[in-house]
Amino acid sequence: MDKLEEIIREALSLFASIDDAVELEQVKARFLGKSGALTDLQKGLGRVPAEERPAMGVKFNAAKEQLEAALTARRDAIQRKKLEAQLAQEALDVTLPGRGTGSAGLHPVTRTLERIEDLFHSLGFEVATGPEIETDFYNFTALNQPENHPARSMHDTFYLDDGKHLLRTHTSPIQIRYMEKHRPPLRIIAPGRVYRVDSDATHSPMFHQVEGLWIDDSVTFADLKGLIAEFLRRFFERDDLKVRFRPSFFPFTEPSAEIDMSFGDGWLEIGGCGMVHPQVLKNVNIDSEAFQGFAFGLGPDRLTMLRYGVNDLRLFFENDLRFLKQFN
Ligand code: PHE
Repeated sequence: MDKLEEIIREALSLFASIDDAVELEQVKARFLGKSGALTDLQKGLGRVPAEERPAMGVKFNAAKEQLEAALTARRDAIQRKKLEAQLAQEALDVTLPGRGTGSAGLHPVTRTLERIEDLFHSLGFEVATGPEIETDFYNFTALNQPENHPARSMHDTFYLDDGKHLLRTHTSPIQIRYMEKHRPPLRIIAPGRVYRVDSDATHSPMFHQVEGLWIDDSVTFADLKGLIAEFLRRFFERDDLKVRFRPSFFPFTEPSAEIDMSFGDGWLEIGGCGMVHPQVLKNVNIDSEAFQGFAFGLGPDRLTMLRYGVNDLRLFFENDLRFLKQFN
């Protein structure tokens, strides 16, 4: 029976030396398989004298069980090792300091828009918005600027393929959209992006406007000028800031004016305005005998340039973080 013990010893030491699950099963076959060493030895049991056979049988069964148990233990050990290796490899060190994401900030023009909204809000204005893709009707026709009106040529824009839509050239269409849904008295500002075929240091094909509209029974041109002056003084935090109106023309206001503010020794244009044209009120079914008011359009990009001392409008829209970070 030395042979049996020898086989057991060999098997146990082999099993213990193996680290791979597949290899372990192959080695198992060498001992316990159909023509394995232990199986071969067992086949010879028939030649053993009959009275010794039961004892031998017990020994063989014990040997098999011992080998099976060793295999199971080894399988578990291999599996555990594999899992531990995987865990170690995939481990996150949650105690490592982060790389730092930097702090986010608002775009300078967004800051200006928020500031404008706050200031007008304190003066009793609601904020309204409208779509950037507009129809010809809202952008021009309803604003008393019918097809072939010469003033349209100053608002060359980008037309969409369907021929019916365009990128709005100003925020004034929001006046129409708002008045279609609301009756006077009404007091709104409407900030947003607008588009024109224009590009140089002071013009970008995309820029911002803030529309203003105040309609009531007795709103006057004097109220308009007083409001604009008050707003600009608050915006720039300067009580000595002067405002000048220059006569101008817009199809949807009458009379109309360009708004200039004092800057250094000179004047800078920062928007347009006027008393809402009676035809515009008629277009939205507001009684132009009972109600009147004014509208204005300001250029917040220009206001941002003045407030922060930036001399090229295009810098705002290049998304260069070195530039933008300076405002936060
Ligand atoms: N929408 C005009 C423009 O873009 C500005 C404006 C607004 C003028 C409201 C008068 C009243 O040129």
